[in-house]
Amino acid sequence: MTTAHTPPIERASRDEIVALQLQRLQATLKRAYERVPHNRAKFDAHGVHPDDLKTLDDLAKFPFTSKDDLRQTYPYGMFAEPLENIVRLHASSGTTGKPTVVAYTQNDIDTWAGIMARSIAAAGGTRQDIIHITHGYGLFTGGLGVHYGAEKLGCTVVPISGGQTERQVQLIRDFGATMIVGSPSYVLNIVDEFERQGLDPSKSSLRRGMFGAEPWGEEMRREIESRLGIIAMDLYGLSEMIGPGVAAECIESRDGPTIWEDHFYPEIIDPDTGAVLPDGAPGELVFTSLTKEALPMVRYRTRDLTRLLSPTARSFRRISKITGRSDDMLIIRGVNVFPSQIEELILKTPKLSPHYQLEVSRKGHMDDLAVRVEPKPEFVAAGDDASQVAGELRHRIKALIGINTKIDVMPLGGVERSAGKARRIVDLRK
Ligand code: DLL
Repeated sequence: MTTAHTPPIERASRDEIVALQLQRLQATLKRAYERVPHNRAKFDAHGVHPDDLKTLDDLAKFPFTSKDDLRQTYPYGMFAEPLENIVRLHASSGTTGKPTVVAYTQNDIDTWAGIMARSIAAAGGTRQDIIHITHGYGLFTGGLGVHYGAEKLGCTVVPISGGQTERQVQLIRDFGATMIVGSPSYVLNIVDEFERQGLDPSKSSLRRGMFGAEPWGEEMRREIESRLGIIAMDLYGLSEMIGPGVAAECIESRDGPTIWEDHFYPEIIDPDTGAVLPDGAPGELVFTSLTKEALPMVRYRTRDLTRLLSPTARSFRRISKITGRSDDMLIIRGVNVFPSQIEELILKTPKLSPHYQLEVSRKGHMDDLAVRVEPKPEFVAAGDDASQVAGELRHRIKALIGINTKIDVMPLGGVERSAGKARRIVDLRK
């Protein structure tokens, strides 16, 4: 369903794509090996050298990269360029000064703007659009990533970021936004706010939206489309690969995000064995960057569970909706949270015991996190004030991870115990 307006690379033949991928993969492996000692040591330990990649299938011989590699080499150890060539850093939240840091050269920023512009165009955006960007601006890649792409395409950008929901409604109306980009849960909050103000959101100027940064299903798509009167498209990405714009849904087909395969080489693996699975099989998505300079990524394990689907609206393959993760990462109001980060903060609170449980629930469209903890017996005996301990932990979680939580200080023995693996997460959303 490509047209004369679709750029040539998006209409390329499979042979052309494979040839480009092979050449770029070889260059990425070489860059990763020659410029990053951590990668070189891993390749050597694995008994592989960049010259061993003769076909795309040879990639399976190379070691994976995970968030752990980035943590071990924090903050700059995985960079393939000296800092003087790095023009931007982004980072995820972290506890003890160990967030995941990602870097960009000027060429990387231009590449990112290019694929993000391509993503917005795939979603039907043009320079006529007024685009209201509700993703957070700052260390999170969402706001700035979408922003540069929208400007490159020539859209009129409203960089409102998140929060101040009443004002969001007012500015959508005043500025006549035609496109909205954000996390699906937050945009539904804006829809609620329209209704709270007695306005019909489906009558707004908005026509199309791009949603991502957290999992969302077809149910949610239907709800957004019917209540907001727009066409809703999926936008996928992750900081380690570049940010938003790794894959985006095309308006003609709306059948799962098209992967920009000229920049990111996808594989699906069995999360337990690491074996590469054929297209169509469910498993964990793994990416190798093909054009990044500052942070070449070799076989990065996204932990996202999905399938690779054949091309439809473009020549590139697609992913189906992300159905879950192969690790325990939670996404709470757009912030990626690992239970281990919270555990670390609980253990650092002297009056709390190591028994804890996290409860995720959904209020309206937003996810909430409650943390159940127990005091240490000696502090119960001393009659210590539970609300003070709760306040202290709540404050630390907010300051270091960036999310609001409800802390329940339970009586001794009040947190569920298990004979085997502790059930750390109670998910009430399903
Ligand atoms: O969330 C980048 C992004 C920003 C994507 C804005 C789309 C829009 P991270 O904070 O590194 O980067 O989180 C990446 O979020 O591995 C998925 O688990 C999840 N995720 C992102 N997009 C989607 C999506 C950004 N469309 C992690 N559907 C990823 C489901 C998504 N999950």
